[in-house]
Amino acid sequence: MDPSHSTADVSVVGLGRVGLPLALSFADRGLRVIGIDNDAARLEAVRDGRMPFAETGAQELLERVHSSPAHPLSLSERVADAAGARHIVITLGTPSFSHIEIDMRDIRSALDDLLGVLAPGHSLILRSTVAPGTTEFVAGYLAKHRSFEVGEDVFVAHAPERIAAGRFLEEIDTLPCIVGGVGARSGEVAAQLFGVFAAPIVQTTPVQAELAKIWTNILRYATFALPNLLMMDCERYDANVFEVIDLINRDYPRGGMAQPGFTAGTCLRKDFAFSEERSAAPGMLLAVSRVNESVPLFLLEGARRRLGSLANRRVAVLGLAFKADTDDERDSLAHKLVRLLERELADVAVHDPHVPTPTASLEEALDGAELVVVAANHSEFRDAHALATIAERAGGDCLVVDPWNCWGAGQVFAYASELVLLLDATRPKTRG
Ligand SMILES: NC(=O)c1ccc[n+]([C@@H]2O[C@H](COP(=O)([O-])OP(=O)(O)OC[C@H]3O[C@@H](n4cnc5c(N)ncnc54)[C@H](O)[C@@H]3O)[C@@H](O)[C@H]2O)c1
Repeated sequence: MDPSHSTADVSVVGLGRVGLPLALSFADRGLRVIGIDNDAARLEAVRDGRMPFAETGAQELLERVHSSPAHPLSLSERVADAAGARHIVITLGTPSFSHIEIDMRDIRSALDDLLGVLAPGHSLILRSTVAPGTTEFVAGYLAKHRSFEVGEDVFVAHAPERIAAGRFLEEIDTLPCIVGGVGARSGEVAAQLFGVFAAPIVQTTPVQAELAKIWTNILRYATFALPNLLMMDCERYDANVFEVIDLINRDYPRGGMAQPGFTAGTCLRKDFAFSEERSAAPGMLLAVSRVNESVPLFLLEGARRRLGSLANRRVAVLGLAFKADTDDERDSLAHKLVRLLERELADVAVHDPHVPTPTASLEEALDGAELVVVAANHSEFRDAHALATIAERAGGDCLVVDPWNCWGAGQVFAYASELVLLLDATRPKTRG
C-alpha cells in the first residue's frame, strides 16, 4: 500500500509486554495505530478493554484509548495489514536458541509477510532486542528481495526498548530513545515517530544501537552475578554475605556491590547470548550466566546441609515471578527451584499473589512447611506481617531461605524463630 494514502500513522507488530503499552502510548499521543498480533485471545482481550498482563497504569490507558471518540487503535491478526500505516514498529519476541544464537524466526516470518506490501515511504523500525548486525540484515533483505534503496525509498532503523517492566508509562517519556538508522534518512524518519514522546532521541549507527541495548542488559546481568557469587563464597567461609556487602559499600566512594537474589527473566537470560554469538572472549558471560543460573541449586544445597534430605518434606516456595511485583513468570528461576526441589522428592507448595499460574494461598503453602524459600521479593513478602505468618503457620523451627534479605535480618539461611528475634531486636522501641 502506498504510505501516502495510509489510514494510520503507525503499526505495532506484536502486542506483547513491549508492543501493547507502546501501541497504547502512541494512540494516547493522538496517533492512529494498527495493533497486530497472531494470538486471537490477546486481541480479544484488548478489544474487550482488558490488559492481558499487568503493567502499571496500562489498564487505565487502555480504557482511555477505548473510550476516545477518535477510535485511534484498530486491531488485526495479519502482519501484512501493518502496511496500512507509514511507520511499522516490530515488537516481536526474539528468544535465543540453545546454540548461543538469536532465534529470528518471528522476525523473519513478519518480514516475509511484509515484503510484498511494502512501498516507498514506509519505515520499518525494530524495537525488539536483536543481535548485532540484525538491522543491517533486515535492510539487506528488503534491498535483496525488493530492490529498495534503504534510507532513500524505505527506511529501516533500530530503536531498542530499554524500559523496565512496570515502569513503561513513566520511562517512555524519560529514558533516552536510542535510534540507529540505516542509510541517509532512516534515523531521522524513526525520530519523527518517536518524537511524539518527551524523551530525548539519541542518533547513532544501527550496530551501536544494538550493542547499547544488549550491553545495558549484560551490565545488569553481570552486576547481580557478583553478589550471587559472593553469597556462595560466604557460605563456603561461614561468613555473612550481607555483612560483607555492607563492609564493601559503607562510605566507599567508588561504586558499590549490589544485593544477591534470583537474576533471570526473559531478557537478562538471553540477551547476553546475542553478544556471545561472536564474542572475543567466549566464556566470560557464560560464566556470569552459570553463576546466576546456579543460585536455586546453591540455596537448595544449603537447605539440605542444614535439614538433611528434603525427600517427603513440605517446602513452601514464595514467589514464582522472575522479579518483584510483576506477573511475568517467563524464564523465572523460581520455576527452576521448584523443579529442583521436586527432583529431591520434596512436597512443594507455591504461593504467588501476582502470577496467572494458580497457586496456593500463603497460609496453605506455609502450613506444615519445614522449609520456606523466598524466590521472588514481592512487596507482600517484605513486611514483618509475612514473617509473622511464616512463624505462625510453619512454626519457629522452619528453615527460611531468603537471599533477598526481605526483612533486614541479614541471613540467607535462618530459622523462623531466629528471624523473628532478630527483627524484634532491630525494631525501634516505643516508650511505654
Ligand atoms: N518484556 C520486556 O520487559 C522487554 C524489555 C525490553 C526489550 N524487550 C524485547 O522486546 C521484544 C518483545 O518482547 P516481549 O516481552 O514484548 O515479547 P512477548 O512475547 O510478550 O510479545 C510478542 C508478541 O508477538 C506476538 N507474535 C509472535 N509472533 C507473531 C507473528 N508472526 N505475527 C504477529 N504477532 C506475533 C505474540 O503473540 C506476542 O503477543 C523482545 O525482543 C524482547 O527481548 C522486552
